[in-house]
Amino acid sequence: MKEIKVGICGWGNVATGLYQAVNANKKIIERNTNLDIKINFIGARRDNPKCDPQGVEVLRDIFDVVKQDIDVVIELIGGVETARELILSAIKNKKHVITANKAVIFNHGDELFKAARENNVKILFEAAVCAGTPIIKVLQEELAGNNISKISGMLNGTTNFILAEMEKGADFEPILKIAQEKGYAEPDPSFDIDGIDAAHKIGILSHIAFGNPLPPKDFYIEGITEIAGDDFQHAKELGYVIKHLAVAKQEINAVELRAHPAFIKNTSILSSLEGVRNGIEIDTDLIGKIHITGSGAGQESTASGLISDIIHLAGCNKDYSEEVFKSSNEIKIVEFTEISFQHYFYLEVDDNPGVMALITSLVASHNIGIETIIQKDELADNQVPVFFITDLCEELKAKELLNEFKNTDVIKKVKRIRVEAD
Ligand SMILES: NC(=O)c1ccc[n+]([C@@H]2O[C@H](COP(=O)([O-])OP(=O)(O)OC[C@H]3O[C@@H](n4cnc5c(N)ncnc54)[C@H](OP(=O)(O)O)[C@@H]3O)[C@@H](O)[C@H]2O)c1
Repeated sequence: MKEIKVGICGWGNVATGLYQAVNANKKIIERNTNLDIKINFIGARRDNPKCDPQGVEVLRDIFDVVKQDIDVVIELIGGVETARELILSAIKNKKHVITANKAVIFNHGDELFKAARENNVKILFEAAVCAGTPIIKVLQEELAGNNISKISGMLNGTTNFILAEMEKGADFEPILKIAQEKGYAEPDPSFDIDGIDAAHKIGILSHIAFGNPLPPKDFYIEGITEIAGDDFQHAKELGYVIKHLAVAKQEINAVELRAHPAFIKNTSILSSLEGVRNGIEIDTDLIGKIHITGSGAGQESTASGLISDIIHLAGCNKDYSEEVFKSSNEIKIVEFTEISFQHYFYLEVDDNPGVMALITSLVASHNIGIETIIQKDELADNQVPVFFITDLCEELKAKELLNEFKNTDVIKKVKRIRVEAD
């Protein structure tokens, strides 16, 4: 099994989340990648009562981590200037760098990437934009054969949460407070509500897709503080919703770069995203529009992005030429008849007294519960439509019920559709 030696700098939310995810998913990571991720050092100026790093050596000076015998330094201290110094120091010590820090990449990306090139090491930053929701490597690799014309989306979970709640009638200040209590908001919430966080993220995505400098020259950034309850009502009447949108659009030898509130059509995919979810729409020439949505913040989501970078760095993405990834005959396919679903049944039945009682008793005789049942107005020929959703039941039982309905005289038509669980 391949091994990668890791040093983590910072011991806050994201760092402890990474440590816990690497340990909790150790077996899965090994099975998927044949890689053993060894966290050998943690740079923490103080202990974190929420996480015991067990036997891992803790160094009180984060700059000592970069001097150790490790392959990669994972910068998770946040902020800009010390993070820049730490990353440059890691690079000079010939260590690869992984970071979740959008601010340092946005403000010093060009300098850091140049230093990495000169020292023949890599910087990976999947978790810096939308946490674990995959977007960086999607742009860098999966879409590398496409001409991308536009990237747009809601890139800040806090503003998306606030606007979605305001749409339902909440006021700005109390809902911001809830976002802070829930841990969605940045320690300085102005980064969220003034649009700066989203601007950092779109600046980075635009750099990957269109090559603008990092940092980009000033571009238009507006937050959500001017939006009032009435605006949502007006938007609704016109067929729109209000979202905070970050946009990068390719022009001839130029990039349109902006982050501001916008009306978007209430039929668009992005319009339905609520809560802290991030959503991105990418316009490509070869596969049209692509939508990516997912949790844009949080310990676990960010850990997912960081682990993805570690695996990538180690060159351990699943490679089917390797014996270790051959399929296993021990993996059985579950019998379809044993799978449980809820089921929608639609019946057309003779409009006779007692027919509803007959249907419900037939269902009950198969030990199937009914969640909801509805009878509609009469159709032609003395027929009434009845439809219902069952409780969860095995496919086999639902099939038996279907057959019984088909063989019941008063039921003239029957149809069944399975309900997929959330
Ligand atoms: N939280 C998220 O959901 C999320 C999602 C994506 C990306 N990110 C990014 O991930 C990074 C870390 O975020 P976080 O939420 O984990 O922050 P955090 O909980 O505040 O943790 C930061 C850690 O870094 C340490 N630190 C900061 N400056 C230091 C210094 N100069 N020397 C030594 N230690 C230092 C802090 O130590 P003290 O406790 O002693 O101050 C703390 O342990 C940030 O760049 C953030 O933007 C976060």
